[in-house]
Formats: sequence, C-alpha cells, structure tokens
Amino acid sequence: MRLANKIALITGGSSGIGRGICHAFAKEGASIAFVGLNEEKGRKTEQELLDLGCDAFFIRSDLTDRKEVVSIIPKVIGRYGKLDVLVNNAHASKNVPIEETTEDIMDLSLNTGIWATFLLMKNALPYLKETKGKVVNFASGAGMEGLGNQASYAASKEAIRALSRVASNEWGKYGINVNVVCPLADSPGVQEWQDKHPHSYQKMVDLIPMRRLGDSEKDIGKSVVFLASDDASYITGHTLMVDGGAVKAR
Ligand SMILES: NC(=O)c1ccc[n+]([C@@H]2O[C@H](COP(=O)([O-])OP(=O)(O)OC[C@H]3O[C@@H](n4cnc5c(N)ncnc54)[C@H](O)[C@@H]3O)[C@@H](O)[C@H]2O)c1
Repeated sequence: MRLANKIALITGGSSGIGRGICHAFAKEGASIAFVGLNEEKGRKTEQELLDLGCDAFFIRSDLTDRKEVVSIIPKVIGRYGKLDVLVNNAHASKNVPIEETTEDIMDLSLNTGIWATFLLMKNALPYLKETKGKVVNFASGAGMEGLGNQASYAASKEAIRALSRVASNEWGKYGINVNVVCPLADSPGVQEWQDKHPHSYQKMVDLIPMRRLGDSEKDIGKSVVFLASDDASYITGHTLMVDGGAVKAR
C-alpha cells in the first residue's frame, strides 16, 4: 500500500496506459480522480476501480479546451480537499509528414500534450506545495529520436520533457518531484495496429531487446507507482524509459 492516503489525478485514465496506471494506483491504496474524453469508457473504468475498493472519481473533460482543463483541479480539490500526485498521461495526435501537418493537427497535439500538462501543473502547484507532491509526465521515444511522420507529437512530447526539467529545478525547494516516463505498451491503439499490420508489428517487437511490449498496468503502471511513492523522493528531473530497452537516446 505504497500510495495509501494519497490523492492522485490521472489524465487519460479511461483506457490504455492511463487505465493501467489507475489500476496499479488503486491496488496501492490511492484515491483516484481521472480524466477522460469518452463518458462510457470513463464510467466503465470508474466501476472497475470502485470494485477494487478504490475511491474513484471520473471527470469527463476535453483537454483540447483550455477552459475545461483549468476546471479540473478545482473539481479534484472540491471532492478530496488535497492533491498528492499528478499524472499527465493523456495525449492525442495524428501522424503525418511535416508537409501534411496542418495547424489543426499541430493544435491537437500541442493542446492535449504540452498545454494540458502545463496548465494542470500550474493549477496544481499550490496544492502540491502543501503535500510535497509528485508529478509524473508522459513523453515518448518518438520525440527523443525524432521519428518520421510525428512532428506534432514529437514537438509536444519534447516540450513536456523540457517543462518537466524546468519544474524540477523550480519546485525542488518545495519538496515536489517532477519526472517523466517514456513508455512502450500494448494499448488499444497499438493492438489495432497489430491486427491491421501483423508483420510490421512483429518486426517492431523483434527490435525491442525484451522482445515484448509492456503491460499497461504491470510494467508502466507500477513504474509510475514507484515515481509517485516516497521511494522516489530523491529522484527529480529524470526521464525513465519503460520501454524494454527500445530507445537508447537520452
Ligand atoms: N502506447 C505506447 O507504446 C506509447 C509509446 C510512447 C508514448 N506513449 C504515451 O503514453 C501515454 C498513454 O498512451 P496510450 O497508448 O495509452 O494512448 P491512448 O491513445 O490509448 O490513450 C490516450 C488517452 O488520452 C485520452 N485523451 C485523448 N484525447 C483526449 C482529449 N482531447 N481530452 C481528454 N482525454 C483525451 C484518451 O481518452 C485516452 O484515455 C500518451 O501520452 C502517449 O503519447 C505511449
């Protein structure tokens, strides 16, 4: 029960890696507010967490809308009165070459990525100061390696890493830790791609030193539990690769 009595806010918690993080946090005793776009998926995950005995609270919010983003922290504080852990996991993007990257495509990735992460961190700061809280942000090997067709995504993800380093420098004096996870996991999006392109999928898996994709709860969720726990109190400004050794760039 490494997160007993901790209040966590997790974005993109309805599905994929975010849902895995919610389950891992629930099993460590955290109370969880999680943000998602899809009401049905959100309610389903909320019920799963309640069934685990977790005090869970689904917040339907569209992170492309900055007014909605700034309404999230007051909702969490209204319900729980404090915040110990902020996990910025949600991100949406469309992968196309730079010449096909429209302003709308750029906006989608920057709004759900760097803007939502920045606004939630800024709005959470007064409460994180009170709890000496933890922030775990999500980036990607795609950003670190500058993968083709991912301009909007890579730019937003590397901006999140830069923001995290700045926050770790500014907020260390408050006892707040800010770290980044770069995952590799078989979320529904990856599973869909596997069904459509089994050969490309297998080629990708063969290139991962551990020869498998991560599990959203057991591999990624538990790593986030570690960074959110007191065990990681002297780690800040760090990017943790939870990707089976796939990306060596730092
Ligand atoms: N899956 C991987 O292997 C992998 C690799 C590198 C980085 N990542 C990063 O890890 C995180 C989770 O990845 P995933 O594979 O679970 O992604 P996913 O696409 O399966 O899920 C993303 C989540 O974000 C939420 N979301 C998307 N747009 C939203 C919006 N406008 N408003 C509110 N919520 C919104 C979705 O509801 C969903 O819960 C992301 O930041 C992703 O970029 C994943």
